[in-house]
Amino acid sequence: MKGRILVTGGTGFIGSHTTVELQNAGYEVIIIDNLSNSNREVLDGIEKISGVRPAFVEGDCTDIATLRSLFETYPGIRGIINFAASKAVGESVQKPILYYRNNLNILLNLLDLMPEFGVKGFVFSSSCTVYGEPDQNPITEDAPTKKATSPYGATKQICEDIIADVIKSGSPIKAILLRYFNPIGAHPSAEIGELPNGVPQNLVPYITQTAMGIRKELSVFGNDYNTPDGSCIRDFINIVDLARAHVAALDRMLEDKSDKALEVFNIGTGEGLSVLQLIDAFERANGLKLPYKIVGRREGDIEQIWADPKRANEVLGWHAQVGIDDTMRSAWRWQQRLRERGIM
Ligand code: WQD
Repeated sequence: MKGRILVTGGTGFIGSHTTVELQNAGYEVIIIDNLSNSNREVLDGIEKISGVRPAFVEGDCTDIATLRSLFETYPGIRGIINFAASKAVGESVQKPILYYRNNLNILLNLLDLMPEFGVKGFVFSSSCTVYGEPDQNPITEDAPTKKATSPYGATKQICEDIIADVIKSGSPIKAILLRYFNPIGAHPSAEIGELPNGVPQNLVPYITQTAMGIRKELSVFGNDYNTPDGSCIRDFINIVDLARAHVAALDRMLEDKSDKALEVFNIGTGEGLSVLQLIDAFERANGLKLPYKIVGRREGDIEQIWADPKRANEVLGWHAQVGIDDTMRSAWRWQQRLRERGIM
């Protein structure tokens, strides 16, 4: 056993896939989640895949007393991966106080308790959104961050700064910030995946729900961008690949592979795909036709961004492995599984 890890938000999309990979790598996982955007059945999926049911605490990380009692119940936690956060860009514009309150308080509580309970390593879920519209692509970690276009994005930037300040103050912890590009797909077993609340805001859930007939057609937001086919370009990263990056980050901190207390890594494939290319990949991989129409641009969208993942490749020894066709197949299999289970 490599040690106990606390995964906040562990029943969510990225948290559940990461829990599987942590358990496969020999870590013992304790999940805390308030189930605000997930459900208990996710634990069954994790257990089916990895053969281990993680310990589960239903609770809210904004409440420091809940967290303190968790650390007392499960002594010896060596690392934390912090997924618990509100994450809908549009909602954050409507409810900024909720976003700042949740995302900042969760982080502050965890950083506050880490030294008290001797927790050494912290992995923070950051986002390529901190870069804003890049001056050039692929983008490296040294590119300047730009003013966030939403309260959600602002919380990611502020959280990154808070972690840096806490480490600068001499807190005896190590932290790795992972800047995710666009996580998509599902576990190849289709036992876990993404379950958006209501009408999906993100591209791939919208695609799979349209293919299932839940949505009439996909709207492609803009084909007049300055890109080869006119649609926006993103770096779509397979969810299992993304999950594995967290294991590499924890290994690095807990095995003292670096003497740096704070490191930042882009987690992406290094390749940009346009929205239209992604639709094409979905159709090709699954032998389906997707109804879509071109509509106007979505406010606040970045035109094009993709990662330079060289630092993660070289320093973490992590590489994206799953190709786009396999990823799009996994997304569709998951949507089909949701239908089989009568969920949607
Ligand atoms: C991708 C592309 C859309 C839906 C945001 C956050 C990021 C992250 C993921 C957190 C864009 C286009 C989408 C649709 C479309 N974080 N699109 N029709 O905007 O890159 O990133 O979500 O959870 O921090 O900024 O992701 O999937 O919303 O959009 O044409 O119905 O697909 O315009 O070009 P985005 P996305």
